[in-house]
Formats: sequence, C-alpha cells, structure tokens
Amino acid sequence: MSEQTVTSQSHVSRMDALTKAFNEGKQHWQLRRHLLDTNDLEVEELRSLVNVAAAAKELINHSDAPLTVLDRKTIANVFYENSTRTRSSFEIAARRLGASILNLDVASSSVAKGESIIDTTKTLLSMGVHALIQRHSASGSAIQIARTLGDRLHLINAGDGWNAHPTQALLDYFSMVEVKGSIQGCKIAIVGDLKHSRVARSNIRLLTRLGAQVHTAGPPTLTPVELARMGVTVHTKLEPAIENADFVIVLRIQLERQKQGLIPSIGEYKRLYRVDSARMRLARHDARVLHPGPMNRDIEISDELAEQSERSLINTQVTNGVAVRMAVLYLLLGDR
Ligand code: CP
Repeated sequence: MSEQTVTSQSHVSRMDALTKAFNEGKQHWQLRRHLLDTNDLEVEELRSLVNVAAAAKELINHSDAPLTVLDRKTIANVFYENSTRTRSSFEIAARRLGASILNLDVASSSVAKGESIIDTTKTLLSMGVHALIQRHSASGSAIQIARTLGDRLHLINAGDGWNAHPTQALLDYFSMVEVKGSIQGCKIAIVGDLKHSRVARSNIRLLTRLGAQVHTAGPPTLTPVELARMGVTVHTKLEPAIENADFVIVLRIQLERQKQGLIPSIGEYKRLYRVDSARMRLARHDARVLHPGPMNRDIEISDELAEQSERSLINTQVTNGVAVRMAVLYLLLGDR
C-alpha cells in the first residue's frame, strides 16, 4: 500500500469521526438557535461540543483542505470592539467548514453614521446572512438581537460588555479537558481583574456547573460582590487561590481602566497579584496556567511563565479556539 493511500485512508477515517461526532451532537443541538452564554448549554450539549471539537482538531492537525459542510452558509463577523483571537479564529473556522464569511468593518460602516445594532443586523439579514458573530461593549447586546431578530438568524455572542464570552470559556474548558480528561473536582483559580471580565463570568458559570472547585483572587476593588453568589470561593490574596490548584486562569488587567483609580499602581498590582513561576510552585506540581489574551507580559503574568511549555497552555488555547469555534458553527448551522 502506498504512503498516499495510507494518508487518504486516515483522512477518510478522520472525516468519518468528525461526521459521527457531529451527527451524535446534533441530536442535542437540534433545537439550539443561538450561543449567548455558557449557562445556556446543557451538559449533553457540552459533551458533544467537546467531541466535535476534538474530531475537528484531529482533522485540521493533518489536513489544510476545507470541508464543504457549511458551503451554503454565509456568516458575518460584526465586531464593534477590537479583537484578534476571537474574530480571526471564527473566520478560519468558518472557512475550514466551507462557509462564506463577511467581516464587517464597523469603523467604516454606517454604524459611524449612527445606525443601530438592530438595523445593522436587519441589513445583513436582508443580504442573506445566516449567522452573526457579534462583539459589542454593551452587556446584554447579544440577548437584545436574539430577542428581536432571533427567529431569522443564528447569533453567536463573541463578547458583550462585562457579561459573557462563551466561546472563550468553551475553549478554556476544552483545553483543560485535554489535559485532565475531566474537570470534575479540579481546583481552578481565576485571578486578576474579575470586575470587568466577561471571560471570568462565562468560565465561572460553566466550570462550577461541571463540578470544578472555582476560587477567585483579585484586589477588592476589582472583585464584584456578585461572585459570592456564583458558587466560587472568593479571596483577595493570590496565594490561597493558587494553592494546590490544577489550573490557574490569569485575567488581563485592563490598563485602559486604570484611570478609574481602582488599583493604587501597576507596581503594587504586580507585587501582589502577578502570577509567575515562584507563585505557581504553590499550585500542584503539574498545574497549568491559562490566559485568554491579550497578555500584559510581566504585569499580570511573568514573561517566563507565559513561555514555559510545561506550564503554559496559552498557545494551546489559541489553537483550540479554531477547533472549538468550528464545533460551535457546525453544530449550530450544520444539517444532519
Ligand atoms: N480572548 C479574546 O477574546 O481575545 P481577542 O480580544 O483578541 O478576541
């Protein structure tokens, strides 16, 4: 048997594995129209999403060839806020599935003339867009579109204000499952600027429901009171949160918000909350560190820790972002 034949057979078996995972998963996603936050998703939907993402990752690790499973779908990336990872990985994911993708350049669009998000969405719908991937600074903006126009499109929330960033939490979850098999019973520390973090909120809603012991740590001024009601153990010191942790998720300190005077100084923040190799020694010997990006190197996370391949999952998170977003798009828009 030639090498070419072996390779093609492997490709076929990887395609079969993806199709099988999708067909099983679609049973659970059949009635789902939108992805607004992680607490929308049932456990069976999460399990099947992990299976589809794993099969998609296996396929794209071995082949660049695009699939055709969404070749009749048009998807719009509409980002009213900046993004590198989320926007690019949705674009790559959509192309890999064979969909057409439109990247609306919000800055040069009619939004600049005052057009509302509802009218912008209606305009795209009239052009035949099937799904909208939206990021907006207003918490609740995704829910607003889903309530108003939800029967006419699939809406994927790519971040709304401080509220939710479901696909970031899902790729974090997938990355941790790859390491541990399951996060049930794991201690997961989420540290940093919790107040302004939609990543923290979506992760907490997801990870607590799946049986993880979630601990948070951050300055009191950056720790919202609602955390105590979300089933997490709240610390203001970093060390007890990290101690014996399986995973440490470091959040970006939002430098643009420091004008509000919520922390005394960046130097003080680094002294008390920067996660580095020395502090990671408090965690389990095999603990891993995650960061949603973009990082402020040497402020919330040390440069050497971010680059330590045996500790850092940061590059893996970015890679997994494509597979997880492929799974979301396929399960929402694909036909069995
Ligand atoms: N994690 C994240 O949302 O990154 P981007 O802002 O680059 O999309």
